[in-house]
Amino acid sequence: MKKTYSIAIDGPAGAGKSTIARRMARELGYRYVDTGAIYRTVAYFLDLLGISPKDTDGVERYIDELTVEIRYDEEGAQHMLMNGMDVTSDIRTQDISQKASLVSAQPAVREMLLDMQREVARQHTVVMDGRDIGTVVLPRADVKIFLTASPEVRARRRTDELLAKGQKAEYPRILQEILRRDDQDIHRPIAPLKMARDSVKVDTSELDIDSVVAEILRIVKEKIPQ
Ligand code: DC
Repeated sequence: MKKTYSIAIDGPAGAGKSTIARRMARELGYRYVDTGAIYRTVAYFLDLLGISPKDTDGVERYIDELTVEIRYDEEGAQHMLMNGMDVTSDIRTQDISQKASLVSAQPAVREMLLDMQREVARQHTVVMDGRDIGTVVLPRADVKIFLTASPEVRARRRTDELLAKGQKAEYPRILQEILRRDDQDIHRPIAPLKMARDSVKVDTSELDIDSVVAEILRIVKEKIPQ
């Protein structure tokens, strides 16, 4: 089987992971895998059933009825299928962000999604972003980046992003939500958000996207034969 390479990009909500990872994947010709979207799909499914993401018994009871699949369209954009239904845009709400963070602390959910993520990386050369890619999902990734930025900068970016899409967004509320999500993602017992020991930290607070991409590409070129 052809050797595959993997780049893990972890970090808190709003650090710029998906924008950066998508650009890197395009520049390098790798497949971009947004693992947050997988947790969001699970959260969306449970939400439709009226199951609280904190209800461990309910989550365990219904999780087997869910099939999550990742599909890529002709432009290489990732689509999420929930029992065959495309829910790619339904999962992008603030409510589902919060629920995905809570449901991702459920052991049954993490267990179900672990093999799926590893399998994608086994078959394809990937740029994968998430919270635990460098620590748990792909501990042997060729390159590990930890992207971060201050909570204020992340909240400002998220607010601007939502406003640009014509959605309602209030900075103070978004800042609160980001802080709450950080707290949940960092303090959960299984696969918490943390920097892998062999990860390179890149603080994007003061950097624009082009500079971050250039910096990471430089790191990638040192570690992966081109
Ligand atoms: O990256 P995102 O905002 O779409 O992720 C939504 C939630 O999913 C995040 O708050 C925590 C969870 N998540 C996770 O636990 N592990 C990952 N690898 C990716 C996301």
